[in-house]
Formats: sequence, C-alpha cells, structure tokens
Amino acid sequence: MKFFVDTAEIADIRELAETGLLDGVTTNPSLIAKSGRDFMEVTREICGIVDGPVSAEVVALDHAGMMREAEILRRIADNVCIKVPLTIDGLKTCKALSGEGTMVNVTLCFSANQALLAAKAGATFVSPFIGRHDDNGLDGMDLISDIRLIYDNYAFETEILAASIRHGVHVLQAAKIGADVMTAPPAVIKGLFKHVLTEKGIEGFMADWAKTGQSI
Ligand code: E4P
Repeated sequence: MKFFVDTAEIADIRELAETGLLDGVTTNPSLIAKSGRDFMEVTREICGIVDGPVSAEVVALDHAGMMREAEILRRIADNVCIKVPLTIDGLKTCKALSGEGTMVNVTLCFSANQALLAAKAGATFVSPFIGRHDDNGLDGMDLISDIRLIYDNYAFETEILAASIRHGVHVLQAAKIGADVMTAPPAVIKGLFKHVLTEKGIEGFMADWAKTGQSI
C-alpha cells in the first residue's frame, strides 16, 4: 500500500519524507487555505521534496476552466497530479488529461458507480472519502470493498486512493480490503509508528542495558 500525506504543511512533509516511507502528497483547496501559503509556490516546494505524485486541485467548475488551470499546474513539475472533482466536467477533464499522459486524481468520490466512471475516464487515482462517508451515516469501508470488486472485475488500472482517513483503524481496514493507496493527515501517519508496548519494551531494554555498563 502506498502512503500519501494529506497536507500542505512543509515541515510535516519533510519529516515524513525523511522516513523513506512517503510515496506522495495530496492537497486540496481547504488544506492550501489552512497553510496560508501561495498555491503555486507551496506546490512547487512540495514537488521538490517528494518524488511521487503530488495532487494539486483545480478550482474551476467547468471543463474549459479546469483544462486551463491544469495546464498551469502541470507545468510546475513532472510529479504534479491534477485533482478534479467527480462531476461531468471533472471527468471530461480527466479523460482529456489522461489521454495526454498527465496523472489525474478524481476526488470527492462517494459511490462505487462514480468510481466506475472515474476508471472509464482513465483516472490514475480515484479518491473515495472514507471519513466523510462515515460522517454521513454510511460505511466508508463498504465503498472501498465495492470499488475493489468492480476494478478487479474489469482489470481497471485506476488506483483506489482511500482518502478522508481519520485514524489507524481506517488505514488497517483499507489495507485489508486492498486499497492501493491511502492518504492521511500527518498525525494519523505518525500515530501508526506508535504502540504502548513498543515504548514499554524499549524502556525495559534500556534499563537492563544500563546495568551492564557496556557501550557499542
Ligand atoms: C483527499 O485527497 C482529501 O484531501 C482529504 O482526504 C479530505 O479529507 P477530510 O475529509 O478530512 O477533509
């Protein structure tokens, strides 16, 4: 499973990139607003830190406007992945950009039928929003399972990018179902490294090691 971080905060991206476990970054207009940074500038900086796909979202709602924005965004770096909403115009844009060899992430996916359309439009990634689906009284994992089944039925190459991940259990469940990628906030990814018994174990080993009086 590939790990993307869902943020536009440079310090967090650097810290996670240094682990060697970060495969890409996703941003959206809300995350850009939260960062307080210029969109183009921060996207360029992120693309320089991570080799993998960096999703940058268009804000136009019509096909022509999306194409115009995508043209500007994809010139930033080779690893820019254009993020488009799951609408008719978004999928028209996806089809056109994919045909030109540009990576596309189709975002705001809330049904398996929408994911089927994204795959037919040649999306590189489809982003089902797990947490927001749960918030809406539905099971986000059922959505991931249905998309996995449909994509496997037809051997679609579009990767399932489990998004709107809120905690480690979401990561675990998405991995068990076979989501290709997950994107999560920095705190959720950092939380995956931790376990109380790991910390307790280290504490015990360090205490016993100190008793030996040895050094390496
Ligand atoms: C994915 O690409 C989105 O940016 C993100 O996962 C949305 O998550 P949220 O529901 O926590 O805002």
